[in-house]
Amino acid sequence: MTEEIVTGRDVTIRFDARRCIHSRTCVLGHPEVYVPNVKGEWIHPDAASAEVVMHTALACPSGAIRVAHNDGSATSDTPPVVNTVRVRENGPLAVEAELQIKGEPQATPRATLCRCGQSANKPFCDGAHSAAGFTATGEPAAKEFAALEVRNGPLNVQPLKDGPLMVTGNLELVSGTGRTTDKVTKTFLCRCGQSKNKPYCDGSHKAAGFTAD
Ligand code: SF4
Ligand code: FES
Repeated sequence: MTEEIVTGRDVTIRFDARRCIHSRTCVLGHPEVYVPNVKGEWIHPDAASAEVVMHTALACPSGAIRVAHNDGSATSDTPPVVNTVRVRENGPLAVEAELQIKGEPQATPRATLCRCGQSANKPFCDGAHSAAGFTATGEPAAKEFAALEVRNGPLNVQPLKDGPLMVTGNLELVSGTGRTTDKVTKTFLCRCGQSKNKPYCDGSHKAAGFTAD
């Protein structure tokens, strides 16, 4: 079982361990709700207000945490008004969008996608970049770009065999410090870790012998 579901008085929290990248935003921000390093139950939805618990899901970059109000009035699964991918220094690509992967609509709009090539759970990050010593800037140079006519809508991520992530849909690329560096409707993002032009693919996956489904 990879998903834990804990129902409290006002909200239900779902936790998918396979999506967690251990950024620890949850346990550092609200240790009363997400109690670290305990045996047994560690998720306590009634330990904070429904609004606070909802915020913990919105702040979880990987989509591992999802929250819904039990009366159906709110859910963290609502897509954003602007589709973004945030380039994390030495780490994954953090997407927030009306996300599809291989054409399949995703339950949550948030996902962290592997860009070091080492994850055992591709296309998702599993934290392998740390052990691999992956280094990559989170501050790529800005490109020249035009404003998008529409900033949201379906965003499809198609991992190409032995190659990059082909991304189609309205998307704004954002650096770690919040600079918008590009706005696209189609792009190819490196997932082998070898590009000299990260976050974009530059074809280096071929010489690197990168293999991935
Ligand atoms: S990825 Fe989400 S669930 Fe995992 S540690 Fe970070 S905030 Fe918590
Ligand atoms: S996927 Fe990394 S260079 Fe193409």
